[in-house]
Amino acid sequence: MAKSSGTSRRKVLLGGLALGALGALGAAAYVRPKRVGQNHQPYFQQLGGALDRARFAKPTLVLDKAILEKNIAQLKRHIGAQYDYRIVAKSLPSIPLLETVMKGAGTQRLMLFHQPFLSQVARQLPQSDVLMGKPMPVAAAENFYRALNADNTFDHTTQLQWLLDSPARVRQYQDLARRLGISLQINIELDVGLHRGGVSQADQLTDMLAVIESDPALSLSGFMGYEPHVAKLPGDKRAHRDKAMQIYNEMLNVARDVTGRDLSGLTLNGAGSPTYRLYNDAEVPINELSAGSCLVKPTDFDTPELVDHRPASFIATPVIKALDHLELPGPAGVGMVMTMWNPNREKTFFTYGGYWKAKPTSPQGLSLNPLFGRSSNQEMYNGSGEIALQADDWVFLRPTQSESVFLQFGEIAVYDQGEIVDRWPVLNELFNPLAA
Ligand SMILES: Cc1ncc(COP(=O)(O)O)c(C=O)c1O
Repeated sequence: MAKSSGTSRRKVLLGGLALGALGALGAAAYVRPKRVGQNHQPYFQQLGGALDRARFAKPTLVLDKAILEKNIAQLKRHIGAQYDYRIVAKSLPSIPLLETVMKGAGTQRLMLFHQPFLSQVARQLPQSDVLMGKPMPVAAAENFYRALNADNTFDHTTQLQWLLDSPARVRQYQDLARRLGISLQINIELDVGLHRGGVSQADQLTDMLAVIESDPALSLSGFMGYEPHVAKLPGDKRAHRDKAMQIYNEMLNVARDVTGRDLSGLTLNGAGSPTYRLYNDAEVPINELSAGSCLVKPTDFDTPELVDHRPASFIATPVIKALDHLELPGPAGVGMVMTMWNPNREKTFFTYGGYWKAKPTSPQGLSLNPLFGRSSNQEMYNGSGEIALQADDWVFLRPTQSESVFLQFGEIAVYDQGEIVDRWPVLNELFNPLAA
């Protein structure tokens, strides 16, 4: 009796262990990464061929002109006749690129965020109508006027609006106008409830307007309320939009009362790539929409609102070394264990440069090695045995954002109909880019 109960207990125990082991194996099979990996599709094969023919052999920012033009057409179609369109220049930081978008979209309106870029735009795109997209230190504004060339046809008194967000800044700019003996157009940044910046109190707005209205050197040119979080907050995006626009309207009413004028003809700016699609047929106070990134579509803009836009920019970088195994510094065998667990670490590819704000896109299935670490000189990627990359082949990545990434490459390689057709310099970081 005792023996048989001992045996059955052992059986139960063994059975339990076996089940546990099976469960663990099953769970491992479930969580173990699946083998993925796909070589370049024809689009990237052609792009690599074009780069080779044009003798590119270093990390290169490539812009597909045909896709850019399609994105411009989509944007124009969506914006329609209800709004004017202002190009967010920081997201397209190159004079020839801006010229292409200005021509394609039929607009001279630019939004700028950086003094050296403003100085360059004033010189090289003197027909542009500029709204600054953030409040600038008054010393930066002064530097802009110091860098301005006497023979410049850009009329800063009518073609430039400084964005100001507090009574203190208005006084600083008033002082600047007096010292330089110039007139300034002031656009007021409104906090439309999302706390991205701008004035949020009616009495502060009243103070700002009182100074502007009382000084002939200052003129009120409009308002700007940026609301990117409307597209990111949980819940109904159009309801978030309506709430933001209600605050915009309330602030405009305050301004109408203070100035005694109808302000609807001023620059009433709002939106950005994440939100510009939310304004079709809306009854809102704004009369112009701004956007930039959606025209080149970095990965941060892979959102439901922007499905009609296609990625137009890529980083192309040569493979320096291709290994058919994974070797890591430190104890031998770590690389082997990683590969046994994850078939997508079977191969190793070092790229020329790296550590960009970007994600690998072709060949598909490449990933950074979490143990090896990052490098801006040569970066390690792993992939499965499916990936047949060789040294000197190209790897393509998609920038996560355009504004800083484009600037890192000095120029943009323009790809059109299967060839690299042009090289566009990016905007220049120098204090006075044209004095250099
Ligand atoms: C004031 C303002 N408007 C619009 C945008 C939208 O730019 P994009 O369309 O490139 O996202 C930005 C981006 O930071 C911004 O600061």
